[in-house]
Amino acid sequence: MELNIEAIGKQYKRGTWSLRDFTLTLEPGVVGLLGPNGAGKSTLMNIVATLLKPSEGRVLWNGSDDPNALRRDLGYLPQHFGVYPNLSAIEFLQYMAALKGISAKAAKTRIAELLHLVNLEDAARRPIGGYSGGMRQRVGIAQALLNDPKLLIVDEPTVGLDPAERVRFRNLIADLATDRIIILSTHIVSDVEATAHTIALINKGHLLSYNTPDALLATMQGRVWDLTVTRDDLPYFKEQYLVSHMNQRPEGIQLRIVHDEAPASHAQITHPTLEDAFLGYTA
Ligand SMILES: Nc1ncnc2c1ncn2[C@@H]1O[C@H](COP(=O)(O)OP(=O)(O)OP(=O)(O)O)[C@@H](O)[C@H]1O
Ligand SMILES: [Mg+2]
Repeated sequence: MELNIEAIGKQYKRGTWSLRDFTLTLEPGVVGLLGPNGAGKSTLMNIVATLLKPSEGRVLWNGSDDPNALRRDLGYLPQHFGVYPNLSAIEFLQYMAALKGISAKAAKTRIAELLHLVNLEDAARRPIGGYSGGMRQRVGIAQALLNDPKLLIVDEPTVGLDPAERVRFRNLIADLATDRIIILSTHIVSDVEATAHTIALINKGHLLSYNTPDALLATMQGRVWDLTVTRDDLPYFKEQYLVSHMNQRPEGIQLRIVHDEAPASHAQITHPTLEDAFLGYTA
């Protein structure tokens, strides 16, 4: 099982590249596509999902560029997932199964399995309009899984979820990760920290880094500093350096700074986090 994204470029308008020379080969596991707003995450996902034509480059699924071959194996949860407020989860999933050409009999069994998997059995007969954000996202994941996809694409799935629902969602993704390729986009570092086997950092349409979380952290070693400054000195440090975190302390303000050299003589090297890496690469 292999997805090859080969030198993809996209211009929505002539002269403006929303994605450029993007190349990535994926194998089973979870890849976290991490980038700030407007980085090109949804553009890339829509191209891989065959909903948007690239201006250049191509996508190969198991060596083939036939979009229908990929579509058969695809599950997709778009960033703006339309809900059907009057349908219950069961009705909505039956509807989606019919669109995907799954027989009513097969759909019945599969829908029961999925409602259990996403923990919506109790609410399954109530209209979706009355669901919480997290419950709707779980319906979205269930519809994406109807055909037991080998390639699952989920675009910012944790937006609007409360912390408990976010954790539940991450666990679900981790459970699904065996023997399929999952591409999960987010601008929330902790979403990928927990589940991703590899992280693709993207900004301004470019792939900045593709690595395991540990290898990504290793590239930041020796570049993250801890120091405490006075309130008066704070504006200087914020102006001059990339501050990844601030803490109020009785003795002053504790800063984390991403910089190649020590920002002050009393600064101490500290262990990098993925948040530092994200800022270091995208700022
Ligand atoms: N349909 C479109 N027409 C014109 N420009 C677009 C269109 N869709 C996206 N863009 C532009 O392409 C760039 C990448 O957008 P994209 O939605 O792919 O980013 P993103 O990483 O998904 O951002 P977000 O985190 O906000 O979802 C942005 O500059 C955006 O304004
Ligand atoms: Mg997006």
